Amino acid sequence: MLALSLKYLLIGLVCASIKAEFPNDPKPCNFGDTECIKKAINHFLHKKEGDNSINLSQVDPLTPNKIRISQGTDSPVNIDIVCTNNKIIGLSNAVVTKVTGFGEDLTNKHSIIYKVHGGVSLVGDYIISGKILILPIQGEGKNNLTLVDPTFRVEFSGTADEKNGDIYMKVTNFRLLIEPKSMIYKFDNLFNGDKALGDNMNKFLNENWKEIFNEVRDAMEKEFGLIIEKIVTNDPKPCNYGDTECIKKITSYYLSKKEGDNSINLSQVDPLIPNKIHINQGTDSPVNIDIVLTNNKIYGTSNAVVTKVTGFGKDLTKKHSITIQVPGAVSLLGDYVLSGKVLILPIQGEGKSNLTLVNTVFSIDFVGMADEKDGEVYMKLKNFHLHVDPQSFIFHFDNLFNGDKALGDNMNKFLNENWKEIFNELRASIEKEFGAVVDKVISQVYTKYPYAKYFNE
Ligand SMILES: *[C@@H]1O[C@H](CO)[C@@H](O)[C@H](O)[C@H]1NC(C)=O
Ligand SMILES: *[C@@H]1O[C@H](CO)[C@@H](O)[C@H](O)[C@H]1NC(C)=O
Ligand SMILES: *[C@@H]1O[C@H](CO)[C@@H](O)[C@H](O)[C@H]1NC(C)=O
Ligand SMILES: *[C@@H]1O[C@H](CO)[C@@H](O)[C@H](O)[C@H]1NC(C)=O
Repeated sequence: MLALSLKYLLIGLVCASIKAEFPNDPKPCNFGDTECIKKAINHFLHKKEGDNSINLSQVDPLTPNKIRISQGTDSPVNIDIVCTNNKIIGLSNAVVTKVTGFGEDLTNKHSIIYKVHGGVSLVGDYIISGKILILPIQGEGKNNLTLVDPTFRVEFSGTADEKNGDIYMKVTNFRLLIEPKSMIYKFDNLFNGDKALGDNMNKFLNENWKEIFNEVRDAMEKEFGLIIEKIVTNDPKPCNYGDTECIKKITSYYLSKKEGDNSINLSQVDPLIPNKIHINQGTDSPVNIDIVLTNNKIYGTSNAVVTKVTGFGKDLTKKHSITIQVPGAVSLLGDYVLSGKVLILPIQGEGKSNLTLVNTVFSIDFVGMADEKDGEVYMKLKNFHLHVDPQSFIFHFDNLFNGDKALGDNMNKFLNENWKEIFNELRASIEKEFGAVVDKVISQVYTKYPYAKYFNE
């Protein structure tokens, strides 16, 4: 998150100083004049709202995309944090204290040290789950993670990139080191709002900030690295055929764009809008019900992280697969009409429903079919399957039994206590209906360009 703004600053400054299109105030610096470069960076850093003259975007607050910090099971801090709608506040208080490099040979190593007096805070929505030492932690709400008096050391080397006779510096081997004096964690609403547990956990985190920060440091720096990649390339570069690591990243990136992306004909991702869903379970099933869901929307899919991709090679007719994890809730919200029997209990109702999948793995697979148009080959999808694997499932039907509250509450309770058995009965229908929406979204993407356009050679 922090590296991101630094990168903006760097690019702005570096392009400006090397291209000699520097604005009059401050004056352009000579190569290697690190004192001058220091002053120039400080000058721009303190312009919260950015500066068009060097194409510097807003510095404070910064609005990063989703941030995910995930620490492996072999670490004492085994947690998964996803921060969405976050802002990074306080970077305009940074002062550059040291600059090295920036000589005539731009391929040398360059470094900049920034100190911030006060806090740099990451403020927004979070979902956390996992364990710290032996303590389980989980929650979902507002976060404020503050680095106190941090020092940032940015290091990179350059490569020359010539465009229209001008030489620009491309930044490579970018590295960020973060050294805070301390760190203040504040997760609201931990443990579903249990105040005693939540206060204690925040206290524990703050008392052990150093050890915890050291454990999550690598993940943080890696995560910020990804953000930088997105910012710098603006739109991520297309991947090579079959480069599944690259395809994984780019797919995660697009999924985080709730409203979709016209450049690849990606329609809205969150909420997804399925057709009417009709789940009809036969009389020989223990869950013999008929549910019709209308005006439903599926919320939460933009929190998805792509964990595995296969296929997407040169031969589009092979099998392709994508595995996606969504931490937290994926909720199907809308109107329902329901009737039938669950085990031996009659159930009926009509009203609003909220069917929520919790911590879900979605696995998608399909084979491609070549579709030739005007001499170009497009990919159509066939044999599309979606498998849904939630950690749990939460049913909420309002107004069951014509609004009889006692009966309705009991039935919802019963459904939730037996979610696994019931979900297994409904799974095929749910997978078919969710699959249809996802199939449509992916298919649309591949109608935009011939298959080959999505990849480098
Ligand atoms: C300025 O930055 C925006 C993205 O923030 C980018 O789309 C645009 O191409 C940049 N302009 C120049 C001249 O670099
Ligand atoms: C975040 O926490 C820091 C440190 O406790 C505090 O100074 C800052 O005002 C908080 N920011 C917001 C937006 O609550
Ligand atoms: C739907 O249910 C889930 C799980 O109980 C809950 O987290 C979510 O807030 C609900 N959504 C709405 C809009 O009520
Ligand atoms: C893009 O998606 C829309 C539906 O959202 C579809 O009608 C259209 O044919 C697709 N293709 C292109 C090239 O825009």
